[in-house]
Amino acid sequence: MRNTTDSWWRSAVIYQVYIRSFADGDGDGTGDIAGLRSHLSYLAHLGVDAIWINPWYPSPLADGGYDVSDYRDIHPDFGALDEAKQLIVEAHELGLRVILDIVPNHTSDQHFWFQQALAAGPGSPGRKRYIFREGRGEDGSLPPNDWHAAFGGPAWTRTSDGQWYLHLFAPEQPDLNWDNPEVRAEFESILRFWFDLGVDGFRIDVAHGMVKDPALPELGLPEFCVMPDEGQENHPHWDRDGVHDIFRSWRAIADSYPDRRVFVAEAHVRPGRLAHYLRPDELHTAFNFDFLKSPLDADKLRTVIDRSINDLAAVGAPATWVLSNHDETRHVTRYGRAYTGVTTRMRDQGHPSSDRTLGTRRARAAALLMLALPGGAYIYQGEELGLYEVEDLPESVLQDPTWERSGHTVRGRDGCRVPLPWTGDTPPFGFGPAGSTPWLPQPEDWKSYTAEANQADPTSMLHLYRDALRLRRTNAGLSGEEFRWLDSPDGTLLFGRGNGLLCAVNLSDEPVPLPGACSPLLVSEPLDDNGLLPPDTTIWLYED
Ligand code: GLC
Repeated sequence: MRNTTDSWWRSAVIYQVYIRSFADGDGDGTGDIAGLRSHLSYLAHLGVDAIWINPWYPSPLADGGYDVSDYRDIHPDFGALDEAKQLIVEAHELGLRVILDIVPNHTSDQHFWFQQALAAGPGSPGRKRYIFREGRGEDGSLPPNDWHAAFGGPAWTRTSDGQWYLHLFAPEQPDLNWDNPEVRAEFESILRFWFDLGVDGFRIDVAHGMVKDPALPELGLPEFCVMPDEGQENHPHWDRDGVHDIFRSWRAIADSYPDRRVFVAEAHVRPGRLAHYLRPDELHTAFNFDFLKSPLDADKLRTVIDRSINDLAAVGAPATWVLSNHDETRHVTRYGRAYTGVTTRMRDQGHPSSDRTLGTRRARAAALLMLALPGGAYIYQGEELGLYEVEDLPESVLQDPTWERSGHTVRGRDGCRVPLPWTGDTPPFGFGPAGSTPWLPQPEDWKSYTAEANQADPTSMLHLYRDALRLRRTNAGLSGEEFRWLDSPDGTLLFGRGNGLLCAVNLSDEPVPLPGACSPLLVSEPLDDNGLLPPDTTIWLYED
């Protein structure tokens, strides 16, 4: 039973396709639309409602495609626009909605606007589409202010004529000037271009960064920060109130289509601020990074869950839940560490040791927790196969700009972007045709993580995800918004959903009894010999 209503997104499970690494149809080592099309039925069978495809536009791939050089076409390595159109039709035929990734904070330095801006020189209209400034110091040789870039180094690069341009990310990603009406009009036109082709929505990259304080004041911070610190009310480039005007106009465009289109924000903001993005005339949903980053600790999770649901309910928006994505260490690996939360985004802490068996067990428990909560959920490709972070990629293959920009001190995000294993016993594990070489090497032991191997084992991660998603679709108690906490022992969580459905999560060190008078529906690990719920286990139950 597919959710066909206008508000499908309120409880949708959305599968993130990192297209470079999903499936390679033509054997060039890079995932592509052909590969994705040939696995759409796998995704439909998995039971998700939609796919979100990471940027697939023409791009020099200086930041994995988040450096877009043409927003209305497809990167030739990924295919062609006609194939994209076919993909949209085929996905819809299978009941899968399609969400694209829009990157409005910056373009590629190869985008014709930026090339024009460089050619046209200081003071030209072309430069006003970006953020160009004179430098400081007598000869202007110092950057205009002290802002830092995400992947290391200053947020400013000097051009050959002496002016500097702002880039909050890599130098190949110049920030656009959203105070320029031309920039606004262009992105509205890009949204319409893809909506007219039938896409169902957009994930908005760096939604909290698009508007800057034109005075460009000093920050006085030693390094780049993903979001404002606690108490920093008026940050000059994060979460400025001006972004909301943009999103109101985008919402009007989405609502102008009879089958309304949707937005999900990537917005790293201080507690309490996310709801501003999800007011009824703005965006529909946003990623819940607080949930992703939380340690697997019952009290901390309860706080995050409460805050997420309550803050967003105040503006009528549903919560969402997510455990992994293309920027974060895969959660099997995180959860196998002594500290199970995320401390810094860019992994500059090295790789603390991780117990994979424990991490996998906890990942199973976390998946059933996530999928039992009210609202939407995101699955990052490969988590349904139980994939772990590849922490030992040779330095020679690393592609994340972080590696270069940090002077080879931070390895970056490639370890969660290794191409998926589908079939067989040796690389490329069906990612591409036999004999092809994936753009990042796959570990030999991924032969036991392929979709094929998962399929053959009824106790696998894949079967757990499929069972959970089937129950979510067929059980109205899980797709509704009803939610209530129930008393449970220390170190555990217990909550009720509609139709007498309960979810119990044991994150303590001891087995705990099941709540009385209930029948098990789905469990992440078998109960112990005494019928108790073991540590690091989640169970779904029906009240008898
Ligand atoms: C977002 C993307 C990340 C990218 C950055 C710059 O955080 O998720 O992958 O590097 O934006 O576009």
